[in-house]
Amino acid sequence: MPINFHDKKDRCSYAKRQADSSWITKILEIVNPRGKHVVDIGCGGGIYTRAWARLGAAHVLGLDFSEQMIQTAQELSIDYQNTSFQGGNAISTGLEDKYADIVFERALIHHLSDIPRCLSESSRLLKSGGIFIIQERTPEDVGVPASKEHIRGYFFEKFPHLLDIEYKRRPIKNDIQEKLRFAGFNDIKEYSLWETRRTYQNFSDLANDLRERTGRSILHELNDEQLEELIKYISIKIPSGEAIIEKDRWTIWTAKR
Ligand SMILES: C[S@@+](CC[C@H](N)C(=O)[O-])C[C@H]1O[C@@H](n2cnc3c(N)ncnc32)[C@H](O)[C@@H]1O
Repeated sequence: MPINFHDKKDRCSYAKRQADSSWITKILEIVNPRGKHVVDIGCGGGIYTRAWARLGAAHVLGLDFSEQMIQTAQELSIDYQNTSFQGGNAISTGLEDKYADIVFERALIHHLSDIPRCLSESSRLLKSGGIFIIQERTPEDVGVPASKEHIRGYFFEKFPHLLDIEYKRRPIKNDIQEKLRFAGFNDIKEYSLWETRRTYQNFSDLANDLRERTGRSILHELNDEQLEELIKYISIKIPSGEAIIEKDRWTIWTAKR
């Protein structure tokens, strides 16, 4: 069953990590957020809202259609004076025209049924000269073979039907570029990023994270028994007792207003 973002039990699924330096380095190559107004759409528990705030943004608004996510984000961001959070839908945010210098959407658009509406809404929110940043995994990113670092690859080795689900929902590179142009964006650029997701002290830490399905909506397509089979499968592939640095490959599109 697909993830239900409104379910209380998953309210911390996109909350407890900190954005890694691999992400920060790439973002700073793209834009200088110092003094800027940022909106983080589909913010989840605010991992990246807080990261933008730490990078010196004047203000970061995290917006999400799940009240559970917003509550979690608010609780975890209590010490961040330059953040605020509110409920809202990516296709119709209710925010004023030209609200932001930077609109950021990470791991959001593969959950949307109407991507063009989301892109034109993002265009409406940007000040002239502002930048739109989308971070997503394409079918090529998802299809990277499994390795000690690319743990997700094992999900598809063990359960190939998960790859079919991913291929159906993941955005295609050229398609996104075309939709961005159609929404009125220009200066469209594309980057690749290997983002360190998390470092685990040993396999048992990783196993616990997988068991919680933390930040991995695709694992909601497996029942508990299948999930245990997957954990066992990965345990055989990965040397036990060593630290594991998990990385995911992403595509980032930037576009200007
Ligand atoms: C995969 S999580 C990513 C969270 C966060 N951006 C991150 O990268 O850690 C996707 C988030 O998008 C939110 N979301 C999904 N569809 C949405 C929509 N139509 N409008 C606003 N938020 C949405 C979900 O509630 C969830 O918090």
